[in-house]
Amino acid sequence: MSSLNQLRSAFINYFKDRDHLVIPSAPLVPQNDPTLMFVNAGMVPFKNYFTGAETPPAPRAVSVQKCVRAGGKHNDLDNVGYTGRHQTFFEMLGNFSFGDYFKEGAIEHAWAFITRDLGLDPARLMVTIAPDDDDAAALWRKIAGLPDSRIVRLEENFWSMGDTGPCGTNTEIFYDHGDHVPGGPPGSPDEDGDRFVEIWNLVFMRWEQFADGSRKDLPKPQIDTGMGLERIATVLQGVHSNYDTDMFRALIAASEEATGVKAQGEARFSHQVIVDHLRSTSFLIADGVSPSNEGRGYVLRRIMRRAMRHAHLLGAAEPLMHRLTPALVTEMGEAYPELRRAEPVIAETLRQEEERFRRTLGRGMSLLEEATGQVGPGGVLPGETAFKLYDTYGFPLDLTQDAVRALGMSVDLEGFDVAMKRQKDQARDAWTGSGQAAAAGEWFALRERLGPTDFVGHDQGEVTAELLVLMGEGAEIPKAGAGQTVQALFDRTPFYGESGGQAGDTGEVEWQGGRGRVIDTQKQAGDLHVHVIEIESGELAPGARVRLALDADRRTTTRANHSATHLLHAALRNVLGPHVSQKGQMVDGERIRFDFSHGQPLTLEEIDRIEAEVNAVIRQNLPAETKNMAPEAAIEAGAMALFGEKYGDVVRVLTLGRALDGDGAYSVELCGGTHVARTGDIALFKIVSESGVAAGVRRIEALTGEPARRWLLDQALVSRQLAEQFKTPVSEVLGRVEALEAQRRKLEKELADAKRQLAMGGGGAPQAGPEEIGGVQVLARVMDGVGGKDLRPIAEEFKKQIADGIIALVGVAEGKAAVTVAVTGAAKDRFNAAELAKAAVIAMGGQGAGGRPDFAQGGAPDGARAAEGLAALKTAIAG
Ligand code: SER
Repeated sequence: MSSLNQLRSAFINYFKDRDHLVIPSAPLVPQNDPTLMFVNAGMVPFKNYFTGAETPPAPRAVSVQKCVRAGGKHNDLDNVGYTGRHQTFFEMLGNFSFGDYFKEGAIEHAWAFITRDLGLDPARLMVTIAPDDDDAAALWRKIAGLPDSRIVRLEENFWSMGDTGPCGTNTEIFYDHGDHVPGGPPGSPDEDGDRFVEIWNLVFMRWEQFADGSRKDLPKPQIDTGMGLERIATVLQGVHSNYDTDMFRALIAASEEATGVKAQGEARFSHQVIVDHLRSTSFLIADGVSPSNEGRGYVLRRIMRRAMRHAHLLGAAEPLMHRLTPALVTEMGEAYPELRRAEPVIAETLRQEEERFRRTLGRGMSLLEEATGQVGPGGVLPGETAFKLYDTYGFPLDLTQDAVRALGMSVDLEGFDVAMKRQKDQARDAWTGSGQAAAAGEWFALRERLGPTDFVGHDQGEVTAELLVLMGEGAEIPKAGAGQTVQALFDRTPFYGESGGQAGDTGEVEWQGGRGRVIDTQKQAGDLHVHVIEIESGELAPGARVRLALDADRRTTTRANHSATHLLHAALRNVLGPHVSQKGQMVDGERIRFDFSHGQPLTLEEIDRIEAEVNAVIRQNLPAETKNMAPEAAIEAGAMALFGEKYGDVVRVLTLGRALDGDGAYSVELCGGTHVARTGDIALFKIVSESGVAAGVRRIEALTGEPARRWLLDQALVSRQLAEQFKTPVSEVLGRVEALEAQRRKLEKELADAKRQLAMGGGGAPQAGPEEIGGVQVLARVMDGVGGKDLRPIAEEFKKQIADGIIALVGVAEGKAAVTVAVTGAAKDRFNAAELAKAAVIAMGGQGAGGRPDFAQGGAPDGARAAEGLAALKTAIAG
């Protein structure tokens, strides 16, 4: 039997033996392609090779590419788990020819691999081709000996990546499970049955498609093929559902074990949803995506929550998903080491999200109950509500429909669709048409023409260089003069281009007869350093010899900040745990901003320990070591790599400090940034703030060196000023503040007591006694200096004196009025405290009052009208 893991290797080896360069799977988040949400086919990372925008590393390549399809052109999330063929995550086996072999080579390779290496019976195979593709038909006859009856011509045999990108006609290979299985051949009315399954798609790439619908010929005809690993595994393992293949059976077994529920009946679907979504969410997290409310993070969240609702349906009492990560790592960690590295991050992200979702699940149920209460039996639940439940609380429409059906209600489906469509449009707008795509194309073209910029800034701050290209307003320009801001490419530069969370360098540029300011440096097309220059004097044109000089101080601080960030990252993992991973960073000439995954605010003690570790490594004052290595070797050697980052053939590995509790380095990370020579150059490290930026993501801001010293000095100055103010040593300031605070609370309480005494008639001031109004005993008073809070105990006190009647008090404090009304004894039958209080409040220009029929309170903005309020209250009593 061919397990998924064996099949994957068999495929790679077959093509490797036939001169294909093995290319590891790219991260799921497309690099350099803002038009696409996730890599959804094996060819996506090679898009620029097909279009000619970049030169491929070899004419032939083979890969097993991680793919996510979760909504959009190629997949509908709602099917996943319920059919045997839809997956949100799958692996695509693919061989590629970048202008090397074309149709014949593609068909020969595919046929030989499946019939010889995999041993599929040729009699069970048939193919589809595009209607006019006589070449393909002839090749299938020649190479595979297929009769015309098994070569079906279909209009739909055309493949494109999306609305834009490379495309062409294709041929698909189908496997026939045999006539004991229901279903018809491709193109027949019952083609959706399980009998004939598509196993391999060979695309004959010919054109590039543009957003306006036009097409351009590709520089050369090319081949892109894709075979779903899970699908071919079903054929070889003699099953019909992807979920019956070895890997899925193992994952479902783990899910059964963790929930104690067998995968039978309806529960089977829930388990299938859970294991499919476990794969997609874990891989997305390993590639750096975090759940959020927009873009990629939102898609991730929706997939996660769909699985989590199914965990809930299975009756899982505890969050489930994070308990399944070990099984996934066992199954796939060998082929995808990033999964193993990110395991703690994956588990922690899943756990937090599931805990959070369990809270909204409850809230969703309350919202549903409230909404159905308003609708009433036989009514229709508004589509907006159903959509809100779906979208915000993760309730699929059918769940909501089931729930309301039981109450004799239905859902306004049209309204739901309208809301859904609006949301889909928004989601699409959020990640297409960013306009970056076009500009990126320009830079790739320049990169092909000029090659990479020679970056010499690791050890030089000033060089002579040649200006190669000037850009203005997105296009090349022949020259520029004083007052203009332009983008410039030089053959070499000491200016670091913003990347990896290190800000771009600033500095000076000078040439014969002119000068300018480099206000920023950006990186484009991977390794072009684009200098943004404000020309101050003279005229600048390509070919000019220039002197480029960095702002040295700014760079020095930037170096210290960047190195300190590596130490901070290591310290966070030591102190908080290995689930901490970098989520984002920005270091510049001023400060460090570092975002990382962690569920709760840091305690003061944790912050102390982190600072202490970093400063201890700074004081070791060991030289920083950089080495160039192959990425695999670096990761093997323990270098921390960023999740979802694509690395070149050679990476820089930076080692800082010695471990504090033993041998080995303190921090080893892949990094192309600029760094200190020795850790002591950082001088000092101080965290100045810690906050939350998104669910499960914290942010630390910190300073190093001189800015850190100044910050500490400012803090010290504040305590010195306090000490002077209190005329006490700094060490006693806190005690003094605490004592003052206690004293203030005591005095406030005494003051309130005194006011109450006074109001109650104590202290000798004559007070009006109870009077009779409309046949009831009323004690009505305006009380100066008594706020709303203090009126209640006074009213309680008066209730002891007025057993059957009304107590009506209007207090005035800080310019505002407060009303308290209590009704006691038989008077309760005739009077409502809330109504009486309201009469007073309205008379004083306020809004209203609240409380019980026998006790109510209210407030009004204008204390000067207290007497008016009381008079209105009395009038109300008199009726
Ligand atoms: N790009 C094609 C597909 O995704 C073949 O790899 O099916």
